[in-house]
Amino acid sequence: MPAVSEPVSPQPATPQAAAPQPATLAAFESAKGFMPAAEGLALYAAAAEAADALRLPLLEVGTYCGRSTLLLADAARAAGVTAVTVDHHRGSEEQQPGWEYHDATTVDPELGVMDTLPTFRRTLHRAGLEEHVLALVGRSPQAARLWGTPLGLVFIDGGHTDEHANGDYEEWAPHVARGGLLVVHDVFPDPADGGQAPYRVYLRALASGAFTEVSVTDSLRVLRRTGPGI
Ligand SMILES: C[S@@+](CC[C@H](N)C(=O)[O-])C[C@H]1O[C@@H](n2cnc3c(N)ncnc32)[C@H](O)[C@@H]1O
Repeated sequence: MPAVSEPVSPQPATPQAAAPQPATLAAFESAKGFMPAAEGLALYAAAAEAADALRLPLLEVGTYCGRSTLLLADAARAAGVTAVTVDHHRGSEEQQPGWEYHDATTVDPELGVMDTLPTFRRTLHRAGLEEHVLALVGRSPQAARLWGTPLGLVFIDGGHTDEHANGDYEEWAPHVARGGLLVVHDVFPDPADGGQAPYRVYLRALASGAFTEVSVTDSLRVLRRTGPGI
């Protein structure tokens, strides 16, 4: 007797993570910056989810040349919200001349100091995403002290010292709305893989009881606000 195949019961569709527009992904891949593609896609998925659910602005600390900003801008465009990005554009400690992550093309030839703002503006303009981004040029704590709007997502990727990473957490995390997302980059549990300040901020956010882990993609951690405080 021929085998009778079992009726196939319908499987729930695997939820597809939201993905950026192909043109944005191409712009991201060719932009100067530090975020690998897998982390970028996870950042985009978080931004798209938060923007869609909460319809609140998305905020990034650490613009650099706009690589990750492109993804937040694409998610903001899709949901009709604004992506805000904060940077003094003078580079972090490890990006200064003589340090591991220095890029000589980011130095203003007239002043002899780093200025990533022109490259950032070109990156955003070429991707056609300028109108979805509000760029704040200045120090993160100064900007945060003037801020008064709830945020759908806060992405911390600014200075990687304890002082800066903790400052960014303390100043910006209170603005994450209930159900909103806190994303931390460069979280390395093993000191051999990288600096520990973002990891300590991540542990602090979890220990606060205000945030619950949603996803881990390499060094990118996505947490959701599930309680008050920080
Ligand atoms: C790691 S880079 C950001 C990388 C970027 N998100 C990307 O994907 O390419 C860190 C940035 O934070 C900025 N930064 C560091 N400390 C800051 C502070 N206190 N206020 C504003 N920006 C700061 C630096 O100028 C630098 O551009």
